[in-house]
Amino acid sequence: MTPEESIDRIEAAGRPRPQDRRLHARGAVYDGKFVPSGHIKTVAAHLTTETDVVVRFSNGSPKFRSDDRTKGIRGMAVKFLRDGKAVHDLVAANFRAFPSRDAEGFIELVEALTALAGKDKAKGLGRLAKLLVKHPESRATLKAFAGRDAPASFATTRFDGLHAFYLLDAEGKRRAFRYRLVPQLGEVDLDPKHAKTLDANFLIPQLDHLLTTGPVIFTLAFQFAEPGDPTHDPSRAWPEHRTLLPAGQFVITGRTADEEKWQRSVFDPTRLAEGVELSDDPVLRFRPGAYSISAERRLSAQQ
Ligand code: HEM
Repeated sequence: MTPEESIDRIEAAGRPRPQDRRLHARGAVYDGKFVPSGHIKTVAAHLTTETDVVVRFSNGSPKFRSDDRTKGIRGMAVKFLRDGKAVHDLVAANFRAFPSRDAEGFIELVEALTALAGKDKAKGLGRLAKLLVKHPESRATLKAFAGRDAPASFATTRFDGLHAFYLLDAEGKRRAFRYRLVPQLGEVDLDPKHAKTLDANFLIPQLDHLLTTGPVIFTLAFQFAEPGDPTHDPSRAWPEHRTLLPAGQFVITGRTADEEKWQRSVFDPTRLAEGVELSDDPVLRFRPGAYSISAERRLSAQQ
């Protein structure tokens, strides 16, 4: 499957509006800053100096009018800025492990989930059953995901980067890590009874309201691999007792004045500043091609 075919299949299954992202269609962009903890030794300057950031929170659905009250994928994407330009992106979701070890399995999951969310539930269940046979690595992640309710707020959701990357230190040593974004308010899922009282598009207005009372904070934490931990397979979480260090905090202050500019731009998980390198994960390497095609199509529909 090429990146172009993956976008064709997402479009056929999810029918996004032409002007929207093919996944994570509805989102809002916020200003903030990254405040380093001093615990991470690296040559990556964006992790060791206070840096401006923009953050896009999103509902993962290809549908702009998706329902925040139902469980599903939510995203948090961050751009570290230098002189107003992006130098490093983080693109994370509310999964603890990716539901597939390859891009094909992910597209099959999108096809199953969009069918389940639509009118043809039997088709969705059939697709999901097939996927679980073909991709046994998906079972544990999907079971854990199905067992949870929808997030109560973007500010109470943990987002994981899922792929391995390498961090370089001043001696030239490379250490494999995965990152996670941990909410200072703790993790809270939506009470299904309370969900009935909410609007389908409640997450963004609720975060806007919360920000009128003060900043919303996430810790950027790095989990470091031990020898033998897989760097190529995002469906396999590393043991929870691996060293976990806080790299710093994102302090999010309010909606950005440059909303249109950042909505148009791509949050690309392979945009890395000096000091951070890609791993051998094929899913990570597949993503930028798919994101560019999605961006090309949505931007040409906006003209
Ligand atoms: C083969 C794997 C994947 C494919 C094909 C895929 C596809 C896409 C596409 C087409 C977009 C819209 C891009 C745009 O128009 O700018 C997108 C956005 C996004 N994806 Fe993925 N994705 C994949 C894996 C992942 C993974 C592993 C994560 C989380 C770790 C993730 C999290 C996100 C988030 C948070 C956004 C929204 C970014 C923003 O706010 O601009 N995706 N994805």
